[in-house]
Amino acid sequence: MTVQTDQKSSGTDLKKRVSRGNVLKYPGLQTTVWAIGGGKGGVGKSFVTANLGVLLTQMGKKVLVVDADLGAANLHTLVGAESARVPLSSYLSGTVSEFRRVVAKTPIPNLDIVSGDKDSLDSGSFTPSKAERLREGLRHVDYDYVLLDTGPGTSPAQLDMLLSAEETILVTNGEPTAIENTYRIMKCLFLRKMRRVMRNQESGVVEKLLSTVFSPSSSFEVKKFSDIFTALHNLSSEQEEYLRAAMEHNGISIILNNCTHAEDKRLGPLIKRGCQDYFDIEVGYLGFIFSDKSVTESIRNRIPLVVHNNGTPAAQSLSSCLQRLLLNVRRQVMAL
Ligand SMILES: Nc1ncnc2c1ncn2[C@@H]1O[C@H](COP(=O)(O)OP(=O)(O)O)[C@@H](O)[C@H]1O
Ligand SMILES: [Mg+2]
Repeated sequence: MTVQTDQKSSGTDLKKRVSRGNVLKYPGLQTTVWAIGGGKGGVGKSFVTANLGVLLTQMGKKVLVVDADLGAANLHTLVGAESARVPLSSYLSGTVSEFRRVVAKTPIPNLDIVSGDKDSLDSGSFTPSKAERLREGLRHVDYDYVLLDTGPGTSPAQLDMLLSAEETILVTNGEPTAIENTYRIMKCLFLRKMRRVMRNQESGVVEKLLSTVFSPSSSFEVKKFSDIFTALHNLSSEQEEYLRAAMEHNGISIILNNCTHAEDKRLGPLIKRGCQDYFDIEVGYLGFIFSDKSVTESIRNRIPLVVHNNGTPAAQSLSSCLQRLLLNVRRQVMAL
């Protein structure tokens, strides 16, 4: 891994991007937060989180991985950490007040974990206010990167966690059901974000115009997401530009993981194009990871793949995904 990001010097620029692009970010936080999500369980979210976390430590970064998949928490196993003494739910429910009490060491140097192991909460009790409490807790940590391993699905809390991150990485495999769910999660993310952008606009003009678009007497036909922009453009090109700018810097990327067929390689670019056509929003494509026996072996040994066997195709692909993500971040910063 040779890619370097000069985080210190680009910090101000990153913050500019944050304030422009996302309405739920972490104001004032020096740490870069990435969220890893996906529409389905078992697609490799935790596997990707654990290994990207380790790769970042190998670049000299201090990293915290957070298991926010309440109810199906197993990130601790993937990084070879002990069972949690104090799980995340203790902080979320207020049983412990200091976030640092749920942070534990892992055997990997410079990699710490907030584990969801032994959590008393399930995914159903993970509400937006708990997501907000997690965000509040993360304001008090001192890491270069925080990686949130989120659960599947489109609950409001799940969406808020994904939207609150600097970069959102959606993991899917090549099965049609997983891909369907990836589109679904994207649609929910964009709608939730659009709603927040509207509410944050002081003048409230976009909200007013869009209520016209969606009123029962409206002559606008909104069949796909991108039609919202077209309708808004017809009412006010300035307001359309405003909404578009806020929606464009979404920091969403896709990883195709655990693929069994060579032809699955075309799926990533296809999803990217599909998003452009349907949502009129650009998402990033980070890469493709084949189904690889070494992954299962590393998990059985409770050692992250990039430590267990970093020469395997899956480990190499993970490195490429990270390189692409870091390059995308750099490009976005330079475009401002
Ligand atoms: N690239 C891969 N090659 C082989 N098996 C994989 C790969 N990615 C994931 N898996 C398998 O899928 C299982 C589920 O992965 P996990 O990261 O726990 O999914 P999620 O967090 O999305 O529920 C892993 O235990 C592993 O056996
Ligand atoms: Mg998981």
